[in-house]
Amino acid sequence: MAHEHEHAYENEHLHEEETHIHIERPTIIAPSLLSADFANLGADVRRVEEAGAEYIHIDVMDGTFVPNIMMGPCIVESLRKISQAVFDVHLMVEHPETHIDAFAQAGADIITFHVEATHHAHRLIQQIKAAGCKAGIALNPGTSIYTLEELIDDVDMVLLMTVNPGFGGQKFIENTVGKIHALYHTIADNELDVDIEVDGGINAETAESVRSAGANVLVAGSYIYGASDITAAIHSLRG
Ligand code: DX5
Ligand code: ZN
Repeated sequence: MAHEHEHAYENEHLHEEETHIHIERPTIIAPSLLSADFANLGADVRRVEEAGAEYIHIDVMDGTFVPNIMMGPCIVESLRKISQAVFDVHLMVEHPETHIDAFAQAGADIITFHVEATHHAHRLIQQIKAAGCKAGIALNPGTSIYTLEELIDDVDMVLLMTVNPGFGGQKFIENTVGKIHALYHTIADNELDVDIEVDGGINAETAESVRSAGANVLVAGSYIYGASDITAAIHSLRG
């Protein structure tokens, strides 16, 4: 009886799954410069570009929103002169509105801010777009995807943090996979053109589970820059 009940539930679950729309999209790899060699930053950008990475993920930290300080617009401006890659700027700062125009002028292509860092997320999305960039919105592991409900139609990308932001080399938080899955279904069911980026603790193994859950932009810092063969490491993230 118990077995029969289990079976019935399984079928019901499968049926539910079938009603969802599925979208296929190629995986984009975004190496995080946080784990690059800062004495050779230009060379380390070129290395990952030559290894096939589509984006360069640039982590900006203010020592207040996160307990670390990292990379201002002048670094973006210098790197823009030597790279054609898409510059994916991740702002982990309070008052992100103060910095949008400077990063846009420095050569950012995508600017992502944290929903936890502003009272005016909608206005900020408009500001990023007016500055000529794609707009992304980031959520910490402890923030629900329901905060996106009134914003999802307007953003180009959602960045789901899979570690608590601030440092490279942290362990992937497993229960973020359910969140990726739920967001993926919202996007697919509503036929929205919104990328799902994941950031933190991504390696060949965790890449597999985030891709299966629906993420299509994968940030990886320590896994890529710590690898002896960067091309193989990037390849392994695509599955
Ligand atoms: C974390 C940063 C990440 C970080 C990821 O606060 O936003 O981009 O560099 O590093 P790994 O891939 O080493 O976890
Ligand atoms: Zn990041």
